[in-house]
Order: sequence, then structure tokens, then C-alpha cells
Amino acid sequence: MCGIVGVVRLKPQNDVTLGKLIKTCLERLEYRGYDSVGFAVLKNGELVYRKKKGKIADVSPALRFEEFDGSIGVGHTRWATHGPPNDANAHPHMDCTRSIAVVHNGIIANYAKLKDELLALGHKFLSETDTEVFAHLFEQNIKTSQTCYEAFKKAVSQITGSYALVCICLKEPEKMFFARKNTPLVIGVSEEQIFVASDIPAFLEYTNRVIVINDNELGYVSTDGKIVIENLLTSQKVQPYSRLRLIPWTAELARKGGYPHYMIKEIHEQPIAIGDTVRYNANDSALSLAAELVNSARNLFLVGAGTAHYASLTGRDALALLARKPSIPVISSEFSLFSKTATESDVVLAVSQSGETHDTLMAIRSFKEKGAKVISICNVMESAIPRESHIQLYTKAGPEIGVAATKTFVSQVSLLQLLAVRVGLLNGSLKETEASEYIKKLDEIPVLVERNIALSEVRAKELARIFKNKQSAYYLSRGTGVPLAKEGALKVKEVAYIHAEAYEAGESKHGPISLVSEGFPVVFVFSDNEVFDQMRSNLVEMRSRGAYTVGLIGKERKAELAETLDYSFDLSASDSLLNTIAFAPTLQLIAYYLALERGYDPDKPRNLAKTVTVE
Ligand code: G6P
Repeated sequence: MCGIVGVVRLKPQNDVTLGKLIKTCLERLEYRGYDSVGFAVLKNGELVYRKKKGKIADVSPALRFEEFDGSIGVGHTRWATHGPPNDANAHPHMDCTRSIAVVHNGIIANYAKLKDELLALGHKFLSETDTEVFAHLFEQNIKTSQTCYEAFKKAVSQITGSYALVCICLKEPEKMFFARKNTPLVIGVSEEQIFVASDIPAFLEYTNRVIVINDNELGYVSTDGKIVIENLLTSQKVQPYSRLRLIPWTAELARKGGYPHYMIKEIHEQPIAIGDTVRYNANDSALSLAAELVNSARNLFLVGAGTAHYASLTGRDALALLARKPSIPVISSEFSLFSKTATESDVVLAVSQSGETHDTLMAIRSFKEKGAKVISICNVMESAIPRESHIQLYTKAGPEIGVAATKTFVSQVSLLQLLAVRVGLLNGSLKETEASEYIKKLDEIPVLVERNIALSEVRAKELARIFKNKQSAYYLSRGTGVPLAKEGALKVKEVAYIHAEAYEAGESKHGPISLVSEGFPVVFVFSDNEVFDQMRSNLVEMRSRGAYTVGLIGKERKAELAETLDYSFDLSASDSLLNTIAFAPTLQLIAYYLALERGYDPDKPRNLAKTVTVE
């Protein structure tokens, strides 16, 4: 996730330069990424650009935004995806002639193929990013097009993946081009200027008049105030002002995308986070290297803490089911029991959102001392854990601000499943057809997740009212649903401060059931289709002791439990492993609304920190 902004000035202004205005917009977008900054402005037949690694406040003295004026400009604040954070990889990216400047948020999935073609045509690249490909593609298309817009449109139709793009071009200096697919982009309109940005906070202090751009739409804004929007697939023109909305938000609310908390905003960002993670990694050579290493491991250790540990447990299940590869999950702080056994033939897969968790870092160092190889799965490029790993894989969830992990969890689970498919293909556990069928279903998961969020919102709110005064709860599941039950219980503990305990449902009769009396809440995660009947027996056992039973269940099977569930979430389901992704948002929503119902701020849970750098 990155923050992008483009500004077209409609009137000359003396009080603030365009560069300064872009800087202010970028400061409002810094929550979307903050590892490098850059901008470009068009003025008097010149395109000037400056960019640098670092946060806006740190690099501003060097970039000197204020000194650059003009009528059209773009800016970018980066959250590194392709290529580490450095000056060359910072946006904007330019074509060979330095007459096109591009800022981008998202992932151009087919960039490697396009880059090869453009290299063969003689284009010279300066960065490792996917974005730079677009600048050269645009340049290439200008050679054979009547107008820059025609060339831009052609270039957009050649890329796949997710993108919010804003481009300026010296050849037609009165226009700013934009396009959107699977990642947000909005227009802000005022008397003085028109903005195109990733998010409303970028320009909210200048205007609250907003036009939303939909997926597969593109167009341009020009200095005479004209806004053109059309659908890329149908070429149908849109009446921009028919979509004009007045946004009644405060700046703080706007940073949260209109949601009251980051946690709920990030829950809603999950379809994008999963899609970007899968697209990016499916095309990354690091995934193949990681799969080979995992496949060749004598012992494979999956190391992580908190939510990352639960994601590791889903990784264990995916590797077992898709690649017949056994693995040993290790809670980071417990590493020493395991690293003592490690040898050079062993592999560690370290999972960490922040890439900075002390316990996980200590664990990988200890394994490395024994010669084991380390693969990391992190969300923050160039953080400590990837820096100390042999192979780095990245989730592409963008910055996660809410302390309780949500979108990074589903991104980790998705990436672990993608890795398991690769390992399965390598060792013959999966046939090509089976693998591509699975990947097809994985590609459909963002849609299911979106649907399940919509299905669960009202139900979770209602359940929160019912559970509001409960002291304790059980979360039960079997098979691949167990890590999900653990994550669901953790979320409730973290943000709603209710003692929630997860068990393998079969184990619940060996002790936990003794606490169950009238009205005791028990949440059953029916995500694993293989164990439905056994789960139903455990459900009946709990119900007959008076438990208040809640079920997360695929809607096709709902009728089978109608008698035994007091409350149900009837969800869109896929196969058992994929349901660990599809069902996760419902558990997060239950925790979120319980926190609100009980009067707590879910973004700042007491005693917890987002990144734990102590032992
Ligand atoms: C803290 C956070 C958790 C997180 C855990 C591991 O406890 O509050 O949300 O799961 O650390 O963090 P990591 O950054 O390594 O995933």
C-alpha cells in the first residue's frame, strides 16, 4: 500500500507553491506507507522530479518541496513492494526521456514479462520496481498514438494486477492521467484545484467535494477544469459530476477512511491485502527458491509469535495437506527447545508482521547458529527479520495500524498456502491440474472475504450485545479450523478483554466442558468440511450442558445445525483450508464489536503493543 496524489491547479496561486501543497497532501497519506517520498511538477515546459528514501519529515529538507511550483504535479509516499526502500525505487518513476512521471499504488502482476519486452526494445530501467514498467510502456505507446491519453489507455490495458495510477507527461502538460483497478482512487474538486488521490484525507482540508473512481475506470483531469472518466473495458463515458458527494468527515475520521477505528478499516481492507499478496508472490522468484528450500528440509520449523504463530499453524496444515510436508510449529519465545536439535539440513520459516519481534529474531539467530536456513514472511520490507533471513517473502497488506493483527493474518495465511502449493508441485504431491485448481480458488478468496464481511457485520454487532457481559468463552474447532479458533479467541482477549479459550473440539470433553453451565458462550468454527460430523457431536455435548452455541458455518450446511445452534453466521465457504481465510473476518468482527459494546478502544488495547521488541 502506498499513498499517491496528483494536483491540477485551475488558478494561479501565490500563497502556497504546488510543491508545498503536494507535501501537505502526502503528510496526510503517510499512514499508507512511509519508507520513501517523491514528487514531480510540470512547469514552463520542464518536468522536475525529486525523490528520496525516508519519512516525509526526514527527507523534506533535502527534497525542498516548497521551492517547486507549477500547475500540475504528482506525489507519492511509499510502502515498499517491489525492490527495497531506496532512492532509486522511490516514486515517481520516469521513462527513458524523463518526460513522463508515474506514481502508483498496487502491484503490476505482469511487470516482469513487460519489462523483458521493453528491455528488448531498448528501454533503460533505473529501479527494481514494477511501477517503472508503466512509465516505459506509456512512452512506448506514445510513439504510435495520436494523443497521450490514447497511449495511456493502451498502456493501462496492457497491465494486469492492481493499480491506482496517476501520470503526467511533458508532451501534453495540461493533462493529468489516472486509472484505477482493485485499489482506491478518488477525485477531490475545489475552485482552485482538482486532486486525484489514494484517499480522501490527502485533500480534505482543501475540499470535501469528492468523486469516486470505480474499478476499471480511467481518464484525465486538465487545467481548464475538465474531468474525463471512462470505463476501460466498455469505453463508456461517465458523467463525473453525477457522482459528486460531500464528505462530512473530520480529518481524523478521514484518515480512517470514514471508519471509526483502524481495526475495522483494516478488516475491510482484507480482500485487497489478500489479492495483492497472492499476485505479488505468485510472480516472485523468491517464492520458488523458498519452495525448493522447504521441500529439501530435513526438519522444517515454523516460528512466530501471537497471531503470526496462529498463521504458522495454518501453514503447517497447508504444507501437510497440499505438499505432504510435515513441519514443527514453534512459538518464538520457546525456540531453544527446538534450535538445539537443528542442523544445516533444517529450514526455519519465520512469520512476523512487523519483522521486528524480539522473540522471533532471537529464534532465527539461534537456528542460524546451528546452520539452519531461514525463510521469512514479513509485512515490512527491510525490517530486522528479513534482513537476517536467507530468503525473504513479503505479505502485501500495507501498513497495519490497529494493534490487533487482522489483514496481515489473512495475508500470511494466503501466502503460506501459495507456498504449500509450490512445494506440493515440486515434490509431486499435487498434479499441475490440482495446483491450478487450488490457485484458482485462492484467487477467488478476496470475493468470498468481502461477501463474508458484509454477511457478518450486523450479526457480529448483534452477538456482541448478547455476549456483552460474559466473563468467559470457548472457541472450538477441529482440523484446519483449530488455528482459526485460536486466532478468534486471541482477538477477543486482545480487544474485548473477555477470557476466551480455544480448544480442539474433541479435546473439550477432557476438561473444559466442566466449566460449561447455562448460557456459557461456545463459538464453533465449522470451517473444515472433513470433520463436520465429529464437530456436530461436540456441539450437541456442549448444548446439552446449557452452552449458548454460536456457529460459523458454510451456508450450504446451515440447515443441518439449525436445531443445535443458538446463533449462526451463515458464510460463503470454499474448501477446508481456504475457509481459514474466508471465515477469519467474522471472528475479527465479533471481537471488534464486543470491544465497542464493552466500551473499549479496539485500536489501543491495554498492555499490548503492535511491535514487541523486548524479551
Ligand atoms: C504483538 C502484537 C500481535 C502480534 C505479535 C507478533 O503481540 O500485539 O498482534 O501478533 O506481536 O508480532 P509480529 O510483528 O511478529 O507478527
